[in-house]
Amino acid sequence: MQYNMRMPKAVYSGEDATKNLTGMLAGVKKVTVITDKGIEAAGLTDHALECIREAGAEIIVIDSIPPEPTYSEVQNVVDSVKKEGSECLIAIGGGSVMDTTKLASIASTDEFGVKELLDNPLLGRKSVRTILIPTTAGTGSEATPNAIVAVPEKELKIGIVNPEMIADEVILDAQMTKNLPLKIAAATGVDALAHCIECYTSNKANTFSNLYAMEGMKLIFKNIEAACLDRDALEAKNKMLIAAFYGGAAITASGTTAVHALSYPLGGKYHIAHGVSNAILLLPVMKFNKDACLPQFAEIHDALDMGDVTADPEVKADRVIERMGEIITNLQIPKSLREFNVSPDDLETLVEAGMQVTRLLNNNRKKVTPEDARRIYQEVLV
Ligand SMILES: NC(=O)c1ccc[n+]([C@@H]2O[C@H](COP(=O)([O-])OP(=O)(O)OC[C@H]3O[C@@H](n4cnc5c(N)ncnc54)[C@H](O)[C@@H]3O)[C@@H](O)[C@H]2O)c1
Ligand SMILES: [Zn+2]
Repeated sequence: MQYNMRMPKAVYSGEDATKNLTGMLAGVKKVTVITDKGIEAAGLTDHALECIREAGAEIIVIDSIPPEPTYSEVQNVVDSVKKEGSECLIAIGGGSVMDTTKLASIASTDEFGVKELLDNPLLGRKSVRTILIPTTAGTGSEATPNAIVAVPEKELKIGIVNPEMIADEVILDAQMTKNLPLKIAAATGVDALAHCIECYTSNKANTFSNLYAMEGMKLIFKNIEAACLDRDALEAKNKMLIAAFYGGAAITASGTTAVHALSYPLGGKYHIAHGVSNAILLLPVMKFNKDACLPQFAEIHDALDMGDVTADPEVKADRVIERMGEIITNLQIPKSLREFNVSPDDLETLVEAGMQVTRLLNNNRKKVTPEDARRIYQEVLV
């Protein structure tokens, strides 16, 4: 088996990491900042814009990115980016803004559009430098070659994967997540946890991905509650940003599994936010996976000092799953799809759509049959 690992060329992290923008942009004449209205309203672009101005670059701002954009909404941004012809794209935002920016960096040619990339992702070639600054912790998009778009006519979300989308530079600055509302912080934090645990238990897990997935889990298990619940816990927020990046690095080297696979139709058809649907499915899927992943759960238990290292692997696995349950309860994450207007009548549609996400289901260590998927969805439909 071969393992590949790709990473951004530079990652700036720690107190006021955003300040590095000034030096990074020395000599650059024109940049396009891509963000969304919520980020702007939260005042998160102000300091970055000052730092870019200090470098002397002309700034174009595109702030029209909706949450979880469709491919045609991304195409509109690509068209604006093409028109402006900047030397550098700077994303300030969550996964929606970063994914849009990554697609714009490989689709700024007249030969094909984002629609064509859905079927043939490798058509894309990087034509402009990208700097990604995440404001959620998070999708890990700043570390991955993936971008996810909604395809309304198919009621699906589709992942476009192309190594050319790996960011050139990344800035991890905890000031960006300081005032993240609890609901978003909790759902995106558990998304990062899902990335790490799915990659660690994935069929594609390997020495590279295990390193990032395990370190990510250590940081998340220790810091997620403080980072989400205490506005002033900047160190915990910093650790969560790093953990989310590690989760992305783990995805790049390995791949997510049944949590993400079964979550795709919840985004595509019912418009439930990515982090929320993954957070709802995490426990049922991990309970389902337990017997096939006992050695991995036991390793996590021991590495995270969760209890008696001589205990039976099954006891260790239960403790890891129990701790994930505690996190979900402490962060007030929804446990059922009912509050998102998904009813038991939708069960068969969900099973059919979820079973189509074979790219990720194939990574799951335990085979998922339609009956298994039905039982898992049923558990979160009560
Ligand atoms: N490319 C990848 O590897 C990858 C991985 C996971 C998810 N995703 C994709 O990322 C998208 C979800 O990204 P997300 O969960 O980061 O959310 P998001 O980018 O959709 O943002 C959600 C909302 O949070 C607001 N927000 C973000 N940061 C904020 C802050 N610091 N303060 C106040 N408000 C803030 C935004 O304005 C927006 O309204 C989905 O489309 C998902 O499919 C991509
Ligand atoms: Zn995810």
